[in-house]
Amino acid sequence: MRFKNKVGIITGSSRGIGRATAIELCKQGAKVVLNGRSQGQLLKTRDELLTMGFDVIALQGDATSVVDCEYVVEETIKAYGQLDFLVNNGSSTMNESFEKIEPDTFHDVFCSNSLGAVLPTMAALPYLKQSKGSVLFISSLAGLHGMPSASAYSAGKMALTGFWQSLKIELSHTGIHFGICYLGFTENDAEKRMLTADGTLVPVPKRPAYLIKSQKQVAQLIAKSIYYRKSRRVISTVGKLTAFMFRFCPRLAMYLMIKSQRREEKRGGFAKIEIGKRKIKTI
Ligand SMILES: NC(=O)c1ccc[n+]([C@@H]2O[C@H](COP(=O)([O-])OP(=O)(O)OC[C@H]3O[C@@H](n4cnc5c(N)ncnc54)[C@H](OP(=O)(O)O)[C@@H]3O)[C@@H](O)[C@H]2O)c1
Repeated sequence: MRFKNKVGIITGSSRGIGRATAIELCKQGAKVVLNGRSQGQLLKTRDELLTMGFDVIALQGDATSVVDCEYVVEETIKAYGQLDFLVNNGSSTMNESFEKIEPDTFHDVFCSNSLGAVLPTMAALPYLKQSKGSVLFISSLAGLHGMPSASAYSAGKMALTGFWQSLKIELSHTGIHFGICYLGFTENDAEKRMLTADGTLVPVPKRPAYLIKSQKQVAQLIAKSIYYRKSRRVISTVGKLTAFMFRFCPRLAMYLMIKSQRREEKRGGFAKIEIGKRKIKTI
């Protein structure tokens, strides 16, 4: 029960890794505030976790909206009276070349991965100072090196690194822990969608099983990062290898990346099945 009597907000915890992290932290005793933009999915997850016997509440909100972030933090304090950790996990992802992507779609993906972590942190800071709590940023291999067909996602995730480093130095006197986890390929929910050029949502392509970590494994490592107040963690063997290659043999690493991208293009890229259009909602 490492998180007994601790209260935390996990942005984007209505599904996927955020939801798995909420379950893991609740199992270890935490009270968790679930969050996401779509109410139906959020309430479904809340009910599921309540049925498991966990102490959770659900607060709908967009992590890129100042008003929503303030609402989520204030309601957390009203409900539990304290805040001990914030996991900046909510994110939209993409699969489109920079030449085709529309400005609005680039803006959405970039903002959800950068501002979507800045604004919750800003709102939570006064309470995290009181508790000397934790802020954990969920990044990706795209935050270690730019990935093809993911320019806005990579730019957003890299912005997180700069933000995390600035806060670590600037707010070192506060006693708050600022950590970052760079995740590699992780099991996706069947419903997970990504954006193409014009904001069309498409299913996420399948990845080779040997490269994938389960959501539970990743959630356990995220929980450990908060508990042990880890500064930086790369949760992927491929990620560690990529980081090593780009550091010590950058030209070879870039050559291999370009080769793999060309191979993907020859195969026709990922299947693009239209599911629906992007819907931006400010609450
Ligand atoms: N899956 C992987 O292989 C992988 C690899 C590397 C890094 N990551 C990172 O891990 C994190 C979770 O990924 P995932 O695969 O679990 O994604 P996911 O299944 O698509 O879940 C994303 C969650 O974020 C919420 N969300 C999206 N935009 C939001 C916003 N603006 N405000 C509040 N909530 C928002 C979504 O709910 P709504 O849409 O209802 O808002 C959902 O709950 C992300 O930061 C991602 O970049 C994942």
